[in-house]
Amino acid sequence: MARTATGREKVLKFEGHFHGYADYVAYSYGPPLEEAGPPDRPVPYPQSAGMPRGLKDLIVVVPFNDPDALKAAFAEHGDDLACLIMEPISYDMGCVLAQPGLLALCRDLCDRHGALLFFDEVLTAFRMAPGGAQEYLGVTADLCVLGKALGGGMPISAITGRRDVMRHLRPVGDSELSGTYLAHTTAVLAALAALDEYGRPGYYEHLEALGGRFYGGFQEIIERSGVPMRLQHVGPRFGMHFGLREEVTNYRQAAGASKAMLREFVAGCIARGVYFHVSVHHGYSSAHTEADIDRALEGVDGAMDDVRQAFPAMMT
Ligand SMILES: Cc1ncc(COP(=O)(O)O)c(C=O)c1O
Repeated sequence: MARTATGREKVLKFEGHFHGYADYVAYSYGPPLEEAGPPDRPVPYPQSAGMPRGLKDLIVVVPFNDPDALKAAFAEHGDDLACLIMEPISYDMGCVLAQPGLLALCRDLCDRHGALLFFDEVLTAFRMAPGGAQEYLGVTADLCVLGKALGGGMPISAITGRRDVMRHLRPVGDSELSGTYLAHTTAVLAALAALDEYGRPGYYEHLEALGGRFYGGFQEIIERSGVPMRLQHVGPRFGMHFGLREEVTNYRQAAGASKAMLREFVAGCIARGVYFHVSVHHGYSSAHTEADIDRALEGVDGAMDDVRQAFPAMMT
């Protein structure tokens, strides 16, 4: 649709941001550092076998939170860009936030070059506000995909956007979007019910209160344990970067986190009956209670002790 609306073919994306496995965008969400190219000018890295080689000419990859690299990419490719696609909060990189001014710069560069700003809110939608990251951050995209929380657990996603962009879809326009299970009635009803829940007074206050308890407790455990680690969170989702102490703002930094420490931590939690997985983003839900949070923190506390003992040389 972005291509139809602009008559252009290239897509700009940030290194480390994940937008699913569609061939056109499945580049550089987790490239091996030795194949990722220079930090300020990443080489598009195809994340799956079988992606047509020619597609990489249509993707431009820039480091996140590097305004100069972003401006340079727009200067070079701006007139060929259909859109800039991004996670407004990159949960997929371990809850990495745009630094002050970056989102406004994205909005401005897109406007000046006639490219669409495309927010991938598959993970962020409904997490921290009914209007997702856009409401939370005060920036409105031209196109946006919503997923996950939209269905409250049922499989449904949605594509949304400015009316003049959306009208390019059939039957009004010429862009095709259809599929066997798209808008399946059961999932649509589940989504409507989920939206009712998100609209209830106190829903987000409850989520936030759980977060205060969980993140506050977790941070206290980190400091007490001496384990070097950066916990980053917005709303009910968070990232854990073991071995790092500074705020993580881009992929190269996130890729430097210790996977061995994360594995030790996850094993320690699971051994204590608290589920974590060895992936970059984690979360709790509105169905959790304060007692669940306290129970989780017990597991975290024990697991951090395991990490401390397994990596004595890293401790402070
Ligand atoms: C930000 C983001 N975009 C896209 C996707 C992929 O969605 P799908 O599997 O529906 O293509 C995910 C999945 O985790 C995601 O986190």
